[in-house]
Amino acid sequence: MIYDTLAYYYDALVKDDQATLAWVDWIMASSAPCSVLELACGSAEITQVLSQKGYQMTALDQSESMIQQAREKDKNSSIQYLCQDMRNLHGLGHYEAILCLCDSFNYLLDPQEVKDFFREVYDHLTDQGFFFFDTHSLDRLQEFQEEFNETGHILDVDYQWSITSEEDVIYQDFAFYKEDGTVIQEHHMQRVYDPAWLIETLKPYFTIEKITTDFDQEGIQEGEKYFFVCRRK
Ligand SMILES: C[S@@+](CC[C@H](N)C(=O)[O-])C[C@H]1O[C@@H](n2cnc3c(N)ncnc32)[C@H](O)[C@@H]1O
Repeated sequence: MIYDTLAYYYDALVKDDQATLAWVDWIMASSAPCSVLELACGSAEITQVLSQKGYQMTALDQSESMIQQAREKDKNSSIQYLCQDMRNLHGLGHYEAILCLCDSFNYLLDPQEVKDFFREVYDHLTDQGFFFFDTHSLDRLQEFQEEFNETGHILDVDYQWSITSEEDVIYQDFAFYKEDGTVIQEHHMQRVYDPAWLIETLKPYFTIEKITTDFDQEGIQEGEKYFFVCRRK
């Protein structure tokens, strides 16, 4: 499963304290501390700062390895961690805010999955509850038509990370070269949706309070990510 290998290297590869604070500020600008369900929490960097700020966090991810990384960093916290698929929130209660952050939404590969996902989020929000999520922008598809490549050394491995796009899909390939000669690879697919379609698809369930590009540019503009702040109708 994706992230089974990557989980161990994830923080070393992408952890960025300044970015984490920007995510937290974005959420705090709209919502005071409240009960939160975070979907696809990964290694829980944002989760843990939100918890410190007074949000009551339940955080889930489908990768057991990611949840394990999150738990290990955070032995004494009050955060409830769950290993669960965000497409099925069966058994969970209602929350004042639901989050799906940092490209996690783009792992929904089928438009019907997105529709069902919005319905699932709606079903688990309290009245007027907030739904915060972001997506890759359409510009990313263009950008990655030319392959991006990063190589380096983290922890005990050399790694290569390449990103390409074709039509509306971004492909990410990770290779970790261990000292004993073994190579571990992961291949990820992320689908990028037209924001106009997302807006229409959100409408039955949510009022869209704010859309920004790259946190602070009003509306849909050229950039890397679109940020949606929605409220349950
Ligand atoms: C790019 S990481 C982002 C993690 C975290 N939100 C963050 O801000 O660092 C994407 C995460 O989505 C999780 N994920 C992908 N599809 C999922 C699904 N259907 N249900 C739950 N988690 C999922 C992966 O396991 C991974 O931890």
